[in-house]
Amino acid sequence: ADPKTPQYRTDDPTSFAHESARARWPVIITQGIDDVHRTIWGSEHASSDYISEGKNIVAQMAALKYELQHNRELSPIPDDGEPDIQAYNQELEALGTPKWHSVPWLYSECYLYRRISSMFKRTQNWKEYDLFGRQKRSTFRSSRPAVLELTARAKDIFTSLRGEEHLGKSDYEREAAEKILFKEIFEICLWGNATDLSLLTNLSYEDIQKLQGSEARLAAEENIVANDLEKAWEVLKTARRSGQKERRVDIVLDNSGFELFTDCVLASFLIVSGLATKVVLHPKSIPWFVSDVLAHDLDSLEDFMSKASIWNPESEDPKASNIPQVISDAEMGTLQFLHNRWFEGLADVKDSLKPNLFWTAAGSFWRLPTSAPDLHDDLKKSELVIFKGDLNYRKLTADAQWPATTPFTEAIGPLGPGSGIRVLALRTCKADVVVGLPEGVDEKLRAREGGGGDTGARKWAWTGKYAVVQFSDGKA
Ligand code: F6P
Ligand code: MG
Repeated sequence: ADPKTPQYRTDDPTSFAHESARARWPVIITQGIDDVHRTIWGSEHASSDYISEGKNIVAQMAALKYELQHNRELSPIPDDGEPDIQAYNQELEALGTPKWHSVPWLYSECYLYRRISSMFKRTQNWKEYDLFGRQKRSTFRSSRPAVLELTARAKDIFTSLRGEEHLGKSDYEREAAEKILFKEIFEICLWGNATDLSLLTNLSYEDIQKLQGSEARLAAEENIVANDLEKAWEVLKTARRSGQKERRVDIVLDNSGFELFTDCVLASFLIVSGLATKVVLHPKSIPWFVSDVLAHDLDSLEDFMSKASIWNPESEDPKASNIPQVISDAEMGTLQFLHNRWFEGLADVKDSLKPNLFWTAAGSFWRLPTSAPDLHDDLKKSELVIFKGDLNYRKLTADAQWPATTPFTEAIGPLGPGSGIRVLALRTCKADVVVGLPEGVDEKLRAREGGGGDTGARKWAWTGKYAVVQFSDGKA
């Protein structure tokens, strides 16, 4: 089922869709072309097949960019052997084979990444290639100050959770202290989403670093314009008290790099504190919205936490040797401390990475019960399903033009009350759709500088400066 409320579209000049299709996507494709070029020319032992397939991919991406910029029709995605293509192409037909500048935003943006992925899947040598991998690693390197700050903080938190400071304290006092940490970790995890790479086309590395530090986070608390975090705390606390043996929390991941790092801190916090006994992570199956997590990104995060050499950008060059160490031994020591602790608690998590093609389908999560009934049933077994980020939020709400005061529980349709699923969305706002705001808040934010004023555009919600934390108890 899809909602009756119409979706945002690329032909609406007041929607961020308009700018995305015209200004952002061409840049993203160009960066992809650059990356494949670099890989072709950097690979020493490449066979001639490898090189010619690589060049062919570059040509196809250039053609795609041309079609996009010249507002051509979206063409059916060629068969690459995967079962999800058919649904993409059926929906394309149902939409009347639209043009790039006049198409629902959600469908066309998903189509863009699925189409690019088919170019790789149809080769022999590039099937598993992640054209955004290099960018993801390089941004993680620029996040180093925030990573180190958070590593140090996480070390304190884990030590204090297990520590002696709790001796002699009542359960009540302990819980109160724990609740403060819970809130802190969730806020870190929330703002970790502000810095995804698909928006990097208009953010500098310095901007990113500013967004990630702890001072920025405190200052940003008032920018969380709807906040149900308390309800999630109550749910997990109650489950822990109930003595139930398995208490699972799921995280539908968004971006790799700093955000994935914060998600892993959250996952190990939940386990160490006993608020969950198991955490399941849901990554994507194809390179997606530039920075989204693929299974191999977790390995690369482990490398960052255990190998000094990877912090040097020169390590990207396969011909480089004797790479100088750019990170200090002390810094590396703290990272390794966390890594040991963390992957101790997370051994399970790595086993329970659960990819599913549903997460990279073009439709919204309104279709979960009908399109992916097994996944739907599985999520019902979880105490809490955390959806990270902007795109997941757009999919929860079907990217529809809801009035901002529409209750969250209503805007998520079949995942709302009675669904058997507890939903918690942690999202910094980078698109038009926002629901669950008190009367008057949208108007107030529009009236601020850069908020959109009376242009009809909800510009305040486009930049990641504001956030929402929203909950729906489908088990109640
Ligand atoms: O709005 C910009 C945008 O790139 C959207 O296209 C997309 O929904 C989102 O940001 C990606 O952000 P996130 O990584 O938080 O899902
Ligand atoms: Mg993302």
